Amino acid sequence: MVKCFAFLGRWYIGRGSRRGSKVESPPPAQEQQRSSSVPDGRETTSSARTAARNFSFRELASATNNFREVDCLGEGGFGKVYKGRLPTGEIVAVKVLNLHGVQGHREFITEALLLVLLNHPNLVKLIGYCADGDQRVLVYEYLSNGSLENHIHDIGPGRDSLDWESRVKIATGAAKGLAYLHHSADPCVIHRDMKSGNILLDENFNPKLSDFGIAKIGPVGNQTHVSTRVMGTYGYCAPEYAMTGQLTTKSDVYSFGVVLLELITGRKAYEPASSRRRDSALVPWAKQFQRSGWFAAMADPALQGRFSKRGLSRMAITAMKMVREDPRFRPTMLEVVALLELVSSASDGVGEDAEDEAGSSLSISRGCRSCSGAAGSGRDKEMVSST
Ligand SMILES: Nc1ncnc2c1ncn2[C@@H]1O[C@H](COP(=O)(O)OP(=O)(O)OP(=O)(O)O)[C@@H](O)[C@H]1O
Ligand SMILES: [Mg+2]
Repeated sequence: MVKCFAFLGRWYIGRGSRRGSKVESPPPAQEQQRSSSVPDGRETTSSARTAARNFSFRELASATNNFREVDCLGEGGFGKVYKGRLPTGEIVAVKVLNLHGVQGHREFITEALLLVLLNHPNLVKLIGYCADGDQRVLVYEYLSNGSLENHIHDIGPGRDSLDWESRVKIATGAAKGLAYLHHSADPCVIHRDMKSGNILLDENFNPKLSDFGIAKIGPVGNQTHVSTRVMGTYGYCAPEYAMTGQLTTKSDVYSFGVVLLELITGRKAYEPASSRRRDSALVPWAKQFQRSGWFAAMADPALQGRFSKRGLSRMAITAMKMVREDPRFRPTMLEVVALLELVSSASDGVGEDAEDEAGSSLSISRGCRSCSGAAGSGRDKEMVSST
């Protein structure tokens, strides 16, 4: 398996970055540091960019104090995630496949291969993996601020909500990560599970995309889409993909638009019905504000009015373009990065009163070829009926 990772790493990187995109590549110093963090002579991938260590299960049990419950950071579809410390002192997050869960070997291979091949400051780094007997474990860099979801929803007493500048920084960084997948990786990668829970934050709130277990290689050659069974998370799934299984990069654009709406409003992408209210999805709720153009009314109450109205309007207009029903009229992620950089420049005067008129200054080109589609099948994480 290690040899397979090494071979693919050389192939993919040899082909990558041919499109001259605006998305940053990591500084050489960072690559150097990663390769030197491999502590001993065990086999690793040959390139510093693809350094990923092959751990034994025993090593990871020792790094996590035998997977001690108090060090459990959380649990998702793949299994539990533990905080651990390697003998080098490096703090890591150790994700252990639940052998009785819904995900399995396929997601493990997809996630490990893609993270070995891809490299960008806004993607989580894979430190290594373990395929020991039946055990499948992934080892990542530890991101001390956890997921974005934990900072915008259900914030308990004594915890501060994210300020507006941090929200803009997170949106822009995460957009760069997704633009890298769509426009610099070759062939392009469709994440398929873009949501606030899969954006992790480091100690300085730099965002990193995570969870590539259900990602797909995008359309190649004359293909306009990839046909696959519908997978993803309620509230984030693009309507055309949910209805037909036709997957394109524009499906991720839709999901990322929902993340922007979460950042703006503090509301969840989807709230199931409870005894007190009916179920509600964020996108139709947000569309009512588009009609009036008064986006400041959408703002998360936790911001307590401390945001740039112009910046918020710009981000809301961008988000509404991303969640358009027709994928051809959604922007590409490169366009989204450019639009979010305009939001950053509008964020300087916090408290300003000037309101952008609904989208007047923000024009973007209309869709690309990779967004029309057809139908098909694959494997599921969570079936989505509609959004
Ligand atoms: N590299 C990491 N550093 C710090 N915390 C992490 C890291 N990776 C995951 N976590 C935390 O572990 C928890 C579980 O993450 P995981 O990605 O397995 O599940 P999820 O995102 O909640 O659900 P899903 O399976 O839908 O992705 C989350 O709370 C996440 O914040
Ligand atoms: Mg996750």
